Amino acid sequence: MAERVESGIAELEVQEDVVDPWNVVSKSATGIDYDKLITKFGSTKIDDELIKRMEKATGKPVHHLLRRGVFFSMRDMHEILTLYEQKQPFFLYTGRGPSSEAMHLGHLIPFIFTKWLQDTFDVPLVIQMTDDEKFLWKDMTIEEANRLAHENTKDIIALGFDVEKTFIFSDVEYIGSCPEFYMNMCRIQKLVTFSQAKAIFGFAPCDSIGKIAFPAIQAAPSFSSSFPMIFNGKVDVPCLIPCAIDQDPYFRMTRDVAPRMGCLKPALIHSTFFPALQGAQSKMSASDPTSSIFLTDTDEEIENKIKRYAYSGGGATIEEHKQKGGNCDTDVSYQYLTFFLEDDEKLTTIEQEYSNGTLTTGKLKEELITVLQRLVGEHRRNRKLVTDEMVKKFMTPRKLNFQY
Ligand code: TRP
Repeated sequence: MAERVESGIAELEVQEDVVDPWNVVSKSATGIDYDKLITKFGSTKIDDELIKRMEKATGKPVHHLLRRGVFFSMRDMHEILTLYEQKQPFFLYTGRGPSSEAMHLGHLIPFIFTKWLQDTFDVPLVIQMTDDEKFLWKDMTIEEANRLAHENTKDIIALGFDVEKTFIFSDVEYIGSCPEFYMNMCRIQKLVTFSQAKAIFGFAPCDSIGKIAFPAIQAAPSFSSSFPMIFNGKVDVPCLIPCAIDQDPYFRMTRDVAPRMGCLKPALIHSTFFPALQGAQSKMSASDPTSSIFLTDTDEEIENKIKRYAYSGGGATIEEHKQKGGNCDTDVSYQYLTFFLEDDEKLTTIEQEYSNGTLTTGKLKEELITVLQRLVGEHRRNRKLVTDEMVKKFMTPRKLNFQY
């Protein structure tokens, strides 16, 4: 692995894309240069060899998000597959900062993929709800952040995670109840100096000490010893973290401290970012309702937003479109279909017909509207079925169904 860049990274130059847990800014109209990011972060590009090995080990095709390059980068995935091939256990860890009541489509991506990983590899999963983080970074009371953690937990449960294999926790609630988690936090905090934290996360003198201490809280769930109830006291269960690539700085830090704690480094699998309706260059924001589709949007809102705001890579006029064809690389409706239309053949046909101009932007948008109305409608129904009782069960520390 590329150890050289694992700590003291992220001296971001002004001329480049900026990607850290709080900023995603692209300097180019085509969006983030992900190959450059891999070099800068020192991760490894997911190649056909890895995908073939996954398919061979699991006996089934990989998820379309992997096949289509949405999950594009990784650390130590081969090691995870070796464990799986040897029938050795590992666990999954992902999380969510509960900053708003309504989650949008982009928030779903890591969870949809994580569910596929859980189903495919049949492994336990921990999901961290960082209510503390959102309290520290946003203008929000800690009570409100904690309430949102519960609300968002319902959306996550609605995706169909296996309650026997999944633990969802709020930092505010869990950390105070588990000395082992807090001990790991302290160990991590002792191993990272202020100047390292500054180099990794770009902290400034005006940042609260809460922010500066927070990375240890996001790092701690990477170690099975932080969950004694779940893993029956087993301290050396390896961890795989699916996340968007902006979260990588936390885990570079984690991988840097792990060996010094006598712990295993977590493996990672990274996704690209989900584009805003207005295009790859603008950022999706929960506070701008036109920038994205929310899980609470009605069918009508979905239709209107896509018709009005989804950036089109099509020709300016029907004649021009027929002549020159549309550009799938910049067309947001096409991009969204690559995330949510599972049918490979259909997607290929759409790509060909849009590129050669026989499929109009209007028809392409109709296709997307149908797909998203179905997806969001299904989510709406499933979320209604999530009871407080279920939330409580998912959020109770307990032994997960896990074969050693
Ligand atoms: N910081 C993440 C966010 O703001 C939440 C998070 C916590 C997370 N732990 C994680 C994300 C592990 C991915 C993997 O959304």
